[in-house]
Amino acid sequence: MSPTLPAAPPPDIEQRINALLAKMTLDEKLGQMSQATGLAVPLSEQNKEEIRKGRWGSFLNAGGAAERSEAQRIALKESRLGIPLIFGRDVIHGYRTVLPIPLGQAASWDPELVQAGARVAGREAAAAGLHWTFAPMLDITRDPRWGRIAETLGEDPLVTSRLGAAMVRGFQGDKLDAPDSIAACAKHYVGYGAAEGGRDYNTTWIPEIQLREVFLRSFDAARKAGVATFMSAFNNLNGVPTSGNEFTLRQVLRKEWKFDGFVVSDWNSITEMIPHGYAADEKDAAFKGVRAGVDMEMVSTSYHDNLKALLAAGKLDQKLIDDAVRNILRVKFRLGLFDKGVPVAAELPAAPEEAALGVAKRLATESLVLLKNQNATLPLAKSIGKIAVIGPLANSPVDQMGSWVMDGQAPEVRTPLAALRERFGEFRVAWAAGLKTSRDSSHDGFAEAVEAARGADAVLVFLGEEMILSGEAHSRAYLNLPGAQEALVDELAKTGKPVIVVILAGRPLTFQNVAVRASAVLYAWHPGTMGGPAIADVLFGDAVPSGKLTVTFPRTVGQVPIYYAHLNTGRPPSESELGIPAGTPVDPKGFTSKYLDVDFTPEYPFGFGLSYTSFEYTNLAISTPQLRTGTRIEISADVANTGTRDADEIVQLYMHAPAGSVARPVRELKDFRRVHLKAGEKQRVAFLVGAGDIAAYNATLQLVAEPGKYQVWIAPDSVRGAGGEFTVVP
Ligand code: NOJ
Repeated sequence: MSPTLPAAPPPDIEQRINALLAKMTLDEKLGQMSQATGLAVPLSEQNKEEIRKGRWGSFLNAGGAAERSEAQRIALKESRLGIPLIFGRDVIHGYRTVLPIPLGQAASWDPELVQAGARVAGREAAAAGLHWTFAPMLDITRDPRWGRIAETLGEDPLVTSRLGAAMVRGFQGDKLDAPDSIAACAKHYVGYGAAEGGRDYNTTWIPEIQLREVFLRSFDAARKAGVATFMSAFNNLNGVPTSGNEFTLRQVLRKEWKFDGFVVSDWNSITEMIPHGYAADEKDAAFKGVRAGVDMEMVSTSYHDNLKALLAAGKLDQKLIDDAVRNILRVKFRLGLFDKGVPVAAELPAAPEEAALGVAKRLATESLVLLKNQNATLPLAKSIGKIAVIGPLANSPVDQMGSWVMDGQAPEVRTPLAALRERFGEFRVAWAAGLKTSRDSSHDGFAEAVEAARGADAVLVFLGEEMILSGEAHSRAYLNLPGAQEALVDELAKTGKPVIVVILAGRPLTFQNVAVRASAVLYAWHPGTMGGPAIADVLFGDAVPSGKLTVTFPRTVGQVPIYYAHLNTGRPPSESELGIPAGTPVDPKGFTSKYLDVDFTPEYPFGFGLSYTSFEYTNLAISTPQLRTGTRIEISADVANTGTRDADEIVQLYMHAPAGSVARPVRELKDFRRVHLKAGEKQRVAFLVGAGDIAAYNATLQLVAEPGKYQVWIAPDSVRGAGGEFTVVP
């Protein structure tokens, strides 16, 4: 027997890439740059032959675990160079265990919990033989008409940066090549959420200062968190589609940020540069995509079909191809795909793990935002007699899962109706949908619903939007509750019973008339597998709501875009101009920046959310009145729980610079923290702020903390709080 030799250290990844690249044919390189969607179940002979030849470097949303395992075996064992495939999939808010939609998760303001959620999703996806998720979505949007707002973390760059980075850490784990880690993808790079009119795929115009201040920050945060890949977007940005945009991809991503993973296009976004009016034909589109630095083409085949000819004609530098392939191979090496061997195709376990369901329930609970609670209607007493459960979203597993679900199992979803029946028994829970779906405009089911309400001590109405009313290509021009939902609430309110409205939706909706009639309103988003028990816990006081909005809720669609971090105008309206009722124009008074037919302020501001207790913010103090570059100040305030329930509060730090080389938003979120306060407890909450935290882009696009006065608030939301000021000195 020969003595056991210590294992040779693996050659450095860059050496392995170079060695491989030197052996690759041009066809094999173009194969690596190509991603397809078609894996037949079971694998077709064509699939097998193409994989053997190295025609594809990646598949997305394709095959089952068995096909992926067999395809990988062929790539590793039967292709000339044994280069593994990378399997990507849209694991957006959970895999089998469905978490709340990202906009709901964001309302938790809880990076640790959001990270735990992504960990659950990543582990479940990795077990099914997936290597890569197309998440997190880091787009900022200020337009609830845009259907993809459901997939965002809201309107604020700081919240999106923190929670997006948490998702990256959750998916990728401590080591990218661990068996339960998957690569994340920062998408959609960049500006996609600024679609004009909120219409999906529409043009975006974003000045560079705003691009850097608002839209690029969350992507930079993901990059700093080590995100393995980026996805270029669909939108045209300032005249140049983002999938052909040398400024965002080469200048910012590669030169300024030194990103060394790979960039995948969005679905057909390379060839869509033709209808955008930017590329003449597929050859031109392929050229412009590679020139900008999109390494892998998703679905369309313009790279494969044209790059050879472009090279032969001397129009394209071979180095651009080699760089793209290097970036792709680097991620495959980092994931350990060359060294892990053929994966065993795992069967779906009989049931989701309890631990995964626990995380999903906590996330759903923390995502719930209490918007109204007149006379402390909620929580309801558990001793209550009969409960009427009404509405099209009370028992709709598919809608409850939300818009981006490919692998969630509807039978595993626990709906509010099921959770309430489990808790109180069938006898105490009277159920009548009232409407078949959220869009149902028939009143046929009203009589049954009203009868159920009459016989109950509390009426729980589950309204909102079906999942197909939000998500990709599902924008709306109206933000109202669709169908006859308002009319249903009108009828229920006439019974005189307390009406508690729970709204499940993929976006901020406008529902003033319903809120007026309801005693309480709880916003539940699309809360996922464990939404039902989470909602039941909050309605009956086993959990105290703590969620806060990360997106502004307008009073009416006509106010859109409306967001908290806006610039002032030269003519801001005064307090006395508040309260203009919606719908009918008042007599014009004064020349200020407002509407004649609705109050200019939001219905519910960014950062807002009620609790079952009350909080008071007082005694703001600043450690020194002057902040010098290189030093830090402490900003603190007393936050007191003045009610009778122990509860979490999300404490927010905002700032505003009243003058500078460019005007700054009326408030900007600079930090936040979730604190737990016992009933009657007061805590001093302190934030440390350095010049870097308040730096902003000046008129010449340098990131600096401009000298001058700064206002600061420690606050429960973006409109209130304990305020003070300090000065930045050079
Ligand atoms: C298009 C979507 O924009 C993107 O988010 C998604 O990851 C890809 N399709 C793949 O399905």
